[in-house]
Amino acid sequence: MNKYSISLLFTFFTISIIYSQNTVAKRVQEDVINVKIDSILSLLSIEEKVAMCHAQSKFSTKGVERLGIPEIWMSDGPHGVRAEISWDSWDYAGWTNDSITAFPALTCLAASFNPNLSSQFGNSIGEEALYREKDVLLGPGVNIYRTPLNGRNFEYLGEDPYLASVMVVPYIKGVQKNNVAACVKHFALNNQEHLRSTINVEASDRALHEIYLPAFKAAVTEAGVWSIMGAYNKFRGQHTTHHELLTNKILKKDWGFDGVVISDWSSTHNTMEAALNGLDMEMGTGTDGLGTTTSNHYDYYYLASPFLKAIKQGKIEESVVDDKVRRILRLMYRTTLKPNRGFGRINNKEHHEVARKVAQEGIVLLKNENNFFPIEDKKGLTIAVIGENATRSMTAGGGSSELKPQFEISPLEGMKQRYRNAKIIHAMGYHTGPSVYDNVIPSKLNQDSLRVQAIETAKKADIVLYVGGLNKSHLQDCEGDDRQYYELPYNQEEFINQLKAVNPNLGMLLVTGNAVETPWLDKVDGLIQTWYLGSMAGHAIADVVSGDVNPSGKLPFSFPKQLKDNGAHFYGELSYPGDGTNQHYKEDILVGYRWHDTKNIEPRYAFGYGLSYSSFSISNVETNKKKYNTEDVITVSCNVNNVGNESGAEVVQVYVGKKKSKVKRALKELKGFSKVNIQSGNTKTVSIDIPVSALAYYNEDKSDWDIEKGAYIIYVGNASNNITKTLPISIN
Ligand code: BGC
Repeated sequence: MNKYSISLLFTFFTISIIYSQNTVAKRVQEDVINVKIDSILSLLSIEEKVAMCHAQSKFSTKGVERLGIPEIWMSDGPHGVRAEISWDSWDYAGWTNDSITAFPALTCLAASFNPNLSSQFGNSIGEEALYREKDVLLGPGVNIYRTPLNGRNFEYLGEDPYLASVMVVPYIKGVQKNNVAACVKHFALNNQEHLRSTINVEASDRALHEIYLPAFKAAVTEAGVWSIMGAYNKFRGQHTTHHELLTNKILKKDWGFDGVVISDWSSTHNTMEAALNGLDMEMGTGTDGLGTTTSNHYDYYYLASPFLKAIKQGKIEESVVDDKVRRILRLMYRTTLKPNRGFGRINNKEHHEVARKVAQEGIVLLKNENNFFPIEDKKGLTIAVIGENATRSMTAGGGSSELKPQFEISPLEGMKQRYRNAKIIHAMGYHTGPSVYDNVIPSKLNQDSLRVQAIETAKKADIVLYVGGLNKSHLQDCEGDDRQYYELPYNQEEFINQLKAVNPNLGMLLVTGNAVETPWLDKVDGLIQTWYLGSMAGHAIADVVSGDVNPSGKLPFSFPKQLKDNGAHFYGELSYPGDGTNQHYKEDILVGYRWHDTKNIEPRYAFGYGLSYSSFSISNVETNKKKYNTEDVITVSCNVNNVGNESGAEVVQVYVGKKKSKVKRALKELKGFSKVNIQSGNTKTVSIDIPVSALAYYNEDKSDWDIEKGAYIIYVGNASNNITKTLPISIN
């Protein structure tokens, strides 16, 4: 043994000792906490225990004052800490010290394909939640993007279970580093807003385990999330918030979840089910509780007096409430009771920078004919920034994720601050009413005059940048219901045509959290998907439009050409939105690009697609072996060369498909990716590991995962529809 290997061995032993010391220390710590929890439980009356299992106000639960057990305080949501809500209603409390940093919505985070940024996002929002004295942050959301009509897709991490899993884990760890619990939501199969409280979803075990559960599973088993939120909908006839299979069996038994299951606000429906099917904490049942009297309405909750009564009558064993309280106390020891918890930070420069960075990396360049973008800041150049979305707040509205940011830089403001030489002019072109929940309020402005004014403005410019898309109003990208059609709303297609007619130099910023129909695509030379970007929106947009930042985002979902090209819509009403009672996920496991690929239906823009101001070439694609055992790890490597003139980043994507499978399969599935920054002219080697176990499918006959032996194909490229190289491998 030479000197080098002795020192390597020494390092290995030292690391193993530290690792096992840490694991032992953690276990001892957990044991100590469990002993404390047991001793607290023995001091609590049944009444006190039951009182901890349901809300005492809209966003808090009771503590036990005589024992110094604190209340728990929660807040939405996935991309910023929501303003304070009143004790008993959804009204804002009217505080003046609750403004925050608005981070980009999660579709943008997913589009960054950058797990490191997800960690920074989670840590920053966790610090803000801590500063606002919250114990539980109600996010992130990981419901899979099934249809472009879902009003809440913008809050989630896209259509691919692997991407959503890889992105959600660092977010949760980042939040929880601050001793604030993340609450991953909405468990499970809440893939549409329309009829969300009543719809019964029917989906196969394969769709459940292969598509809709993996991100939740990663949140629990990899990130160790401390709480999870049930959903509104039913699955196989039972409400998902208290579900025998989902909550008791899969979440708590199979995945070993030791945290708190929190209901969605008003998603609890039955005392016995709530008690026995794994719900630990009931929130938001009716705005002021269920009662109409002047007594404490929270006592009417399913997990309040009716629960207490059932325990006292012996219909429910006391151990049931003990288990819930044990979990709640464990959550307290992880959060509010954690010694030296810290104070957090809010609205600081670092958080603004993280918000800007996520936005910069998530923005997706979709089209760039004749290098329309970047637009140079030149003297004598006039740029008309047209459209309501150039100035409209995108943090107001949308439902529970609505935010009250300290500031929100609009696209127009961002452009004006960045462009010092060129002249920026603006007109709205159309105006929509305020974004309020569950109601469409029409604008009072004269739309014809606005249109005429915009056309006149466009005529005066050298370049027109149209800022269009959806907004956060009811029936757009908003909680509570879905979009009603796939096209752009507010006559935007006609508007785009009119702009093109007076100024051919037309580019567009698409502000949405969803795919839209693009029959107007040939009218715009450049198209950038800008999502909902929060506080730093305008700055990040100007960074990309000006070329200060080279775009590197990739679509986390497919853009079908027409709605019926999407798998959920192909099978008609029973598949989406359901017949009013039931809904069958007939496309099964073929969600998103899996559908487009397998059925050979070309999307407008594919999952994983996104352009750069540079170009990259992928070469020397190899696997470390040709034949693997089921315990092996497949290492895929390649060279990525930046052959353009700008430094930039590329996302190498590895998909795997099974040849001649004995079960239904998608043509290919994403199994690994890596984002690399490369200077112009340089080459980097990328290596991506895929455990063979990740190729397993869910075998419904065994109710377990199975790795099929035989031939597979590895696909390597920079979009699901742009594969540079395919390689055969086999699993023995
Ligand atoms: C939403 C949840 C949210 C809760 C509290 C519900 O309507 O579905 O996502 O966390 O309200 O605001």
